[in-house]
Amino acid sequence: MRKKVVAANWKMNLLRSEASGLAGEIIKGLPGPKIYNKVDLIIAPTFTSLNAVQSIIKETGVQLCAQNVFWKESGAYTGEISAGMLIDCGCKWVIIGHSERRHILKETDEMVSLKVKSGLNGGLKVILCVGELKDERENGKTMEVISNQLVKGLGGLDSACIDSLVIAYEPVWAIGTGLNAEPEDAEAVHRNIKEVVSGLLDCKIEKIRVMYGGSVNTGNIKSLVSQPNVDGVLVGGASLNKDSFLEIIRVSGD
Ligand code: PGA
Repeated sequence: MRKKVVAANWKMNLLRSEASGLAGEIIKGLPGPKIYNKVDLIIAPTFTSLNAVQSIIKETGVQLCAQNVFWKESGAYTGEISAGMLIDCGCKWVIIGHSERRHILKETDEMVSLKVKSGLNGGLKVILCVGELKDERENGKTMEVISNQLVKGLGGLDSACIDSLVIAYEPVWAIGTGLNAEPEDAEAVHRNIKEVVSGLLDCKIEKIRVMYGGSVNTGNIKSLVSQPNVDGVLVGGASLNKDSFLEIIRVSGD
């Protein structure tokens, strides 16, 4: 049985005191230590709150995650942060290729690929986000777009990375919109993603974890995580509220 992954993506929200306060409330409300056996619990605050959140979660099984990484180890790259610096802050994970970075910050597949490699080589586990735009879905291009993102994002990697890699399927039209993919549609895309990744990395399909993201909330979590190939969720808006995030964790661990 694959362990589920539940990640809070706090995006560009919360000052340090707010981030550590919310992290503390989440830890206090967890359904008991057994949850860590069933679910990888991950929190991705802003860079400026990494240390503050780490000091709250360090004695627990909750794992710290960054929202981005640069592909060089050090040097004249103003404003960028390396994998080594993230590890130094206590990060275990990094989110790469989020649609907000692809579309607002104009990150290309080539940049995503460099980031995936440097994250993995630097000792971080990687959540690689993929997903289609609304018109791409309407034109029947969902899997073409996603396969292309996977081929480019995972180029040069092999099965050795599979325990350190999770794919997040995030349909762009579902992020922050209140719209979410029908659970059966998400399941079909997840199955296809696993086939593509299994071919690319030459690894067993059962080893691949694919989480869903895009307007996950307390109302849709059960139907999403009960799909056989939905191995967890990447949660934005609903992770900023302790009660809704705790409910999402509880249902994911059922
Ligand atoms: P959302 O964000 O849950 O607010 O839609 C998800 C994400 O962008 O990771």
